[in-house]
Amino acid sequence: MAESGALTDRLREHRLILRYADEPGYSQDIDCYLRHGGYEQLRKALSMDPAAIVAEVKASGLRGRGGAGFPTGTKWGFIDHTKNRKPVYLLCNADESEPGTFKDRQIIYKDPHQLLEGMIIASYANRAHLAYIYIRGEMVRGAQILERALAEARAKNFLGTNILGSGYDLDIFVFRGAGAYICGEETGLIESLEGKRAYPRIKPPYFPAALGLYLCPTIVNNVETLCNVKHIVEMGGAAFAKIGTPNNTGTRIWCVSGDVRRPGYYEYDCGAITLGELLYDVCGGIRDGNRLKAVIPGGSSAKVLRAGEIYRVQRKKPDGSAEEIEMRLEDLPLDFDTIAASGSMSGSGGVIVMDHTRDMVECLSNLSAFYAHESCGQCTPCREGALWMHKILRRMVGGGARPEDPQLLLDVSGQIAGRTICAFGEACSWPVESFVAKFREEFEAKATAAQESESLSRAC
Ligand code: NAI
Ligand code: SF4
Repeated sequence: MAESGALTDRLREHRLILRYADEPGYSQDIDCYLRHGGYEQLRKALSMDPAAIVAEVKASGLRGRGGAGFPTGTKWGFIDHTKNRKPVYLLCNADESEPGTFKDRQIIYKDPHQLLEGMIIASYANRAHLAYIYIRGEMVRGAQILERALAEARAKNFLGTNILGSGYDLDIFVFRGAGAYICGEETGLIESLEGKRAYPRIKPPYFPAALGLYLCPTIVNNVETLCNVKHIVEMGGAAFAKIGTPNNTGTRIWCVSGDVRRPGYYEYDCGAITLGELLYDVCGGIRDGNRLKAVIPGGSSAKVLRAGEIYRVQRKKPDGSAEEIEMRLEDLPLDFDTIAASGSMSGSGGVIVMDHTRDMVECLSNLSAFYAHESCGQCTPCREGALWMHKILRRMVGGGARPEDPQLLLDVSGQIAGRTICAFGEACSWPVESFVAKFREEFEAKATAAQESESLSRAC
């Protein structure tokens, strides 16, 4: 495996979104952004028909970077502007709370104007005149950077009335959340923005694109997704679609945390490198010479994958036909579709690595504490189930495991997924389901150890 500094060309990052992230002064000064061609794509976009921009985004194949990977152009296309008479809102979801995910804050800290330029173009394309950045409350510095960047953009007439003489008006405001995970769920975010408790709304039938903020058509996009928009305008949708692989276009920022030697955030074309290359070559391998045990590839809500297992995934052949092949975990190319085919998801790009010293019951107990704490409490299976699973796991870790616990965990998680208002139900049950299924022997060993310790104490 290559050491840092010895990366081959293929393994070198391709930074599109993070291109100027390490440029000194970039986050503090709009002039620095302007010197690097900043807001030129806004000028170009304002000379285009809004529908033409939506068409370019559709052609680009861009998929949402918040977690679900929904096609951005399709989402934008849901608003029928020939019939709509209500105001349209654009919301940037900067609530980034998924454990293992820390890319959006880097973009905000290091290149806030790229986000603003993307947002202004997206607002124009969707005919919105008011947009909000909903930023996680803990990101105080991020909110300050954005406020300053917004003031700079207003001063240069990139925001406000008659932007650059185009006749288009827009303002953007920063709204700070109060640090609840559920505020990142788009309808919870909307409720919170309306001044209410962030209880997610039932969807379908009504998605925000139809009934969103103040029951008006609303587009909710993630920070990284919106940053891609200026690049699509610059190179055109068809050229953008050539980055990455079909149906997995553009770059992705992978946030790697856990048991690797060089955790961090790394940007690559979709599908350009494998999970093994990311972990061993880019991140320097598993810490302390340990062995890889498991990976959660897309933030804590994604299912865990076990090292040493063989995954059957579909791959497109050069002639366009599909073939099913078997791959080791380390050989999975990092893209939306392959990771989904492995049974997990690339989600928000948070790659969490566990080495062979990790106790998987403890790891899951740690995750379950998060979900038990963050359930909004609106629906019973999630509110009761997340806490119940956590109590079982805490008891198991504390030496009180029972033989029936692994099955009990599966039964409880099976009663949550698919029975709740929002995807949090799946998010809290999938880790349990996959940890128990893939590492059942460790869960059973806890029960055996507890029984042995009880027999010993009785004998004494
Ligand atoms: P979803 O699949 O329900 O929706 C994805 C997007 O497509 C939404 O904006 C939705 O409004 C839109 N959409 C889907 N079908 C539609 C239709 N028929 N008409 C109009 N719009 C439609 O997924 P959701 O619940 O928005 O996101 C779940 C993901 O979020 C999870 O996979 C998780 O990884 C991720 N997540 C990310 C976090 C972060 O910090 N980045 C935090 C929590 C979760
Ligand atoms: Fe709230 Fe959980 Fe129901 Fe989502 S699934 S609405 S987080 S209780």
